Amino acid sequence: MITVGVYGATGYTGLESIKLLRRHPEVELKFATSETYAGQTLNQVYPIPWDIPLVSSADAPLDAVDAVFCCLPHAASMPTVLKARKAGVRVIDLSADFRLSDPTSYQQWYSAPHSAPHLLPEATYGLTELNRAAIKDTALLANPGCYPTSILLALYPLLAKNLLSPQSAIIADSKSGVSGAGRKPSLKTHFAEANENLSPYNIGQKHRHLAEIEQSLQTFDGPADKIIFSPHLVPVTRGMLSTIYVELAQDLSPAQAQALFEDTYATEALLRILPAGELASFAHTQNTNGCAISVTAVNPRQLILCSSIDNLGKGAAGQAVQNFNVMFGLEETTALL
Ligand SMILES: NC(=O)c1ccc[n+]([C@@H]2O[C@H](COP(=O)([O-])OP(=O)(O)OC[C@H]3O[C@@H](n4cnc5c(N)ncnc54)[C@H](OP(=O)(O)O)[C@@H]3O)[C@@H](O)[C@H]2O)c1
Repeated sequence: MITVGVYGATGYTGLESIKLLRRHPEVELKFATSETYAGQTLNQVYPIPWDIPLVSSADAPLDAVDAVFCCLPHAASMPTVLKARKAGVRVIDLSADFRLSDPTSYQQWYSAPHSAPHLLPEATYGLTELNRAAIKDTALLANPGCYPTSILLALYPLLAKNLLSPQSAIIADSKSGVSGAGRKPSLKTHFAEANENLSPYNIGQKHRHLAEIEQSLQTFDGPADKIIFSPHLVPVTRGMLSTIYVELAQDLSPAQAQALFEDTYATEALLRILPAGELASFAHTQNTNGCAISVTAVNPRQLILCSSIDNLGKGAAGQAVQNFNVMFGLEETTALL
C-alpha cells in the first residue's frame, strides 16, 4: 500500500481528493488536515458518512506517508511543500505555488515573493497527457489550474503540429462553476449574487491563470503572446467549459481537423473527442475526471474548440490522482473511471 496524507481536507479539492483516494485500492489514508476543525472529524464538517479524523498541519505525521496532496490556498502551500520535501515525501501540490518556473513571474502575478524558489527547478507541471515521462520521476508535482487544463488540452493537437497561426489571437472564453472559487464564502460567490447571473471577471489579461497558459504555450513553441483569456462565473456548483477561437496557419477541412484531434488523443482513456456535430457542454464531464472536446470548423482557417472538464475532477483532484498514479507506477486511471 502507498501511504498518503491530505493537507486542506476540509476544502473542496481536499474533500474531492479524499473521495477518490478512499476508493483507490493501492492507497492508505494516514492523515487529513484542517486548522479550523482540527480535533473534529470530516463528517462533522460535511454531511458524509466517513469519520476521518482531522489534525492540524503541525501534528500531521509526515514520517508515516509516502506522498501528500496539498489542497491549500496559494502561499499557504509553499511552507507545507517545503516541509514535506525536507522529510523526503513526494508531493502533489494543487495550488499555484509551483506551477510557474520563474519566481519573478510568481511575484508579479501573486503579489508576494516565492518563499521556496530553490524548489522550483525540481517541480514538474502535471498536465498528465502532455508530460508523462517527467511526471513519472518527479518528487514535486505542480498540478495545473482548472482553466489552463481545459484550454491547453484543447490547443495541444494544433500546437503539436505547429498549426496555430503565429500572427492571430487565440481567444479563450471560459466559464466556471462556483466551487472553482473554493469553500470560503465571498460576496462574488454569495448565492444571491451568483444565482441566475453570468459574470465575467478578471478579463483584460488579469486572471492569474494566464501566466500558466502562456508558460505552457512557450513550452510547445506556440504563440504565447496571442492568448486572450476571459473567465466567467456561472451559477452551477461544479463544471467548466472553455470555448476557444483559433486561426490556423494552413487550410484544414472539417474532416481533417476532426481526425487530427481524434488521432492525437486516440489512446487517452480520460480524454474524449466528441463526434463531429456534438458540442461539449458542462454535462459531458460533471462529476467525472475526464475532458470532452468538440471541434467545429468556421472555415478552412478557423476553428471553434469547446473543452469541458469538471473543475474539481480533471481540473483539480482527478488530475492530481491521475498524476499520483503515474508517479507511483500504477495504472493511470485507477480510482478515476
Ligand atoms: N476549487 C477548484 O476548482 C480548484 C481547481 C484547481 C486548483 N485549485 C487550487 O486548489 C487549492 C485548494 O482550493 P480549494 O478550492 O479546495 O480551496 P478551499 O475550498 O478554500 O479550501 C482550502 C483548504 O485549505 C485550508 N487552509 C486555508 N488557509 C490555510 C492556511 N493558511 N494554512 C493551512 N490551511 C489552510 C482550509 O482548511 P481549514 O479552514 O479547515 O483550516 C481548507 O481545507 C487552491 O490553491 C486552489 O487554487 C482549486
